[in-house]
Amino acid sequence: MKKVALITGATSGLGLAYAKEYAKKGYNLIITGRREDKIKENGKKIEERYHVTVKVVIVDLAYKKGVDILLNEMKEDEIEVLINNAGFGLKPVFSNTTKEDIDRIMYLQMNAVVILTRNILNQMLVRNRGTIINISSDGAFAVMPRNVLYSSTKLFILNFTEGLYLELIDTNIKVQVVCPGFIDSDFHQSAGMNVVKKKKGFMKFVAPEKIVEMAMKDMKKGKIISVPGVNTKIVCWIAKFLPRKLFYKFVIRFTKKRLKKLNR
Ligand SMILES: NC(=O)c1ccc[n+]([C@@H]2O[C@H](COP(=O)([O-])OP(=O)(O)OC[C@H]3O[C@@H](n4cnc5c(N)ncnc54)[C@H](OP(=O)(O)O)[C@@H]3O)[C@@H](O)[C@H]2O)c1
Repeated sequence: MKKVALITGATSGLGLAYAKEYAKKGYNLIITGRREDKIKENGKKIEERYHVTVKVVIVDLAYKKGVDILLNEMKEDEIEVLINNAGFGLKPVFSNTTKEDIDRIMYLQMNAVVILTRNILNQMLVRNRGTIINISSDGAFAVMPRNVLYSSTKLFILNFTEGLYLELIDTNIKVQVVCPGFIDSDFHQSAGMNVVKKKKGFMKFVAPEKIVEMAMKDMKKGKIISVPGVNTKIVCWIAKFLPRKLFYKFVIRFTKKRLKKLNR
């Protein structure tokens, strides 16, 4: 019997790249998203190309109802790999964020991650086998204006995953948290953010397949926190080791420059 990988948010970007990676390894997939036509089409392409089965679950995981539907859909499946990837960004500054967006981002990027992990971990513990990959962000290290709630939820994911690693130290369950920088995906467009996707230089946008490749290499090396790419490592290093006053100056200068460039 083929092993099963569950990937949330596999309609596009990083989730889709992970779906292809695990299909290539011979895993059957359960993938989730809300853009029905797009995810079903991608699921079909993966089935044809990699000769695996792909179960597509259309759910909004920013609400309890969506998480309940997903748990019900997968209750018969033995999940070998869980990738908590679904996520979105918010454009406005915190003070202009609506109550609904606050609830959605916190539910999707914290509650849903915790509930899915808790459920699937139960089966993994019985088999004493499995892999949990949680997608965080370099924002977990470097909070920026207009990114406050997003970064805070990603910091939660980072801390949650490290804690899990420590609790699971005597098991065969692998845990990893991936903290990418800019990804060339649908992320910014979906959030209505006006960005220029730089392909070169510092803070460039990286292909999701490349991020997966680097994170998988880190997994093989046993790295619990994967910060894929040199540029992203530099950002995290600056945020971690620069004295806070200097870090704030750096962030404010960077943000002002970026906003000026985008003419906002
Ligand atoms: N893009 C970046 O620069 C960047 C940087 C660091 C970390 N990340 C993280 O990487 C992960 C993947 O993002 P990406 O860059 O690949 O962006 P993406 O192409 O927009 O993919 C996000 C995925 O999440 C799903 N999703 C969003 N909201 C959802 C909801 N409420 N319920 C269910 N699914 C939802 C989307 O599917 P539907 O739209 O079909 O629902 C999509 O499949 C996210 O966790 C993001 O925070 C991104």
